[in-house]
Amino acid sequence: MEGGTEGKLRGNTRESRLSRRQKLVLAAVGAVMLIVLIIGLGLGLGLRNRGGGGDEPETTQPPAPQPTAVWQPAVNTSWQIILNAKLDIDPDRPAVVPDVEVYDIDMFMHQNSRVISSLHKLNKKVICYFSAGSYEPNRPDSDKFPDADMGSVMEGWPDEKWINISSPAIREIMVGRLDIASRMGCDGVDPDNVDGFQNKNGLDLKPEHSVSFMNFLADEAHNRKMAIGLKNAGDIVKTMLPKMEFAVNEECAEFKACPIFSPFIKAGKPVFHIEYPDGAPFDTDGDQKDEYCSAPGAEGFSTILKAMNLNFGAEYCDGSTVRTKVLP
Ligand SMILES: *[C@@H]1O[C@H](CO)[C@@H](O)[C@H](O)[C@H]1NC(C)=O
Ligand SMILES: *[C@@H]1O[C@H](CO)[C@@H](O)[C@H](O)[C@H]1NC(C)=O
Repeated sequence: MEGGTEGKLRGNTRESRLSRRQKLVLAAVGAVMLIVLIIGLGLGLGLRNRGGGGDEPETTQPPAPQPTAVWQPAVNTSWQIILNAKLDIDPDRPAVVPDVEVYDIDMFMHQNSRVISSLHKLNKKVICYFSAGSYEPNRPDSDKFPDADMGSVMEGWPDEKWINISSPAIREIMVGRLDIASRMGCDGVDPDNVDGFQNKNGLDLKPEHSVSFMNFLADEAHNRKMAIGLKNAGDIVKTMLPKMEFAVNEECAEFKACPIFSPFIKAGKPVFHIEYPDGAPFDTDGDQKDEYCSAPGAEGFSTILKAMNLNFGAEYCDGSTVRTKVLP
């Protein structure tokens, strides 16, 4: 050990001039410095393992600047939602269509991209979508879902299964997802599939399980300075409203259930409302459009007409249609 030898030699040259007491003090100071160094190294390694370790893909983006408070969007906030593709924005010359206030995008698809910082440069807020109540294959953390926590296959989504949202293992996975969202700079999150109790789920899920799960997710999101929305789950609107910054609803007009979500509007919080009329968004059935856009109880909702696959296209109730640029 070169360092050790050098230290000893240097010590020897000074030895004669130092009193016994001075030597003791020096030894004590040295020991304290060594302990501080060891603790410091340990902490540094620990933190590094936490940040980039595990099976999560490394993110190459610098950490996003932390906002000082949780974002509260206003009623009638305009938006676009695209979940089946990645937005195509040139980070050096950011531009995006439509010029709405909020983009709701798939979180994992935009990991390690500069899309969110580009949207921020354009003064847009970003809601990051992920599934919180279902298992999906092919997500970076899919192998973390225990078999014991899987329920029925989701109707209409043969690759996805309902999961046990009370399981500590599942909650830990979802905290990991919120950490990703936070690192990506998402202003809010749109955790989907929290209404297992309203579906055949194979896990005996009850409304109180969803309430407990949403309270948990809301606290974790707010701790990370992110807003959170209640997705569908009409039966727990009244309970969850105080903790939510917004709602995201699919097809309340189709199912004549919009009044269930209107408490959000009365509380000054937006309802991001999606309907899927035939032919939407570029050849929309006019009668359906009129019905959905003037649905009782949907006053003040931020209504958007989309194709079921939530692709680049959208129509709004004023009749305008948009095509957002996405990567092929
Ligand atoms: C809602 O927002 C749209 C623009 O997105 C605007 O044209 C309309 O006037 C707003 N409605 C209210 C009641 O503020
Ligand atoms: C779901 O997880 C909770 C907490 O671990 C457990 O008590 C419950 O039995 C699980 N439900 C099912 C259907 O396995």
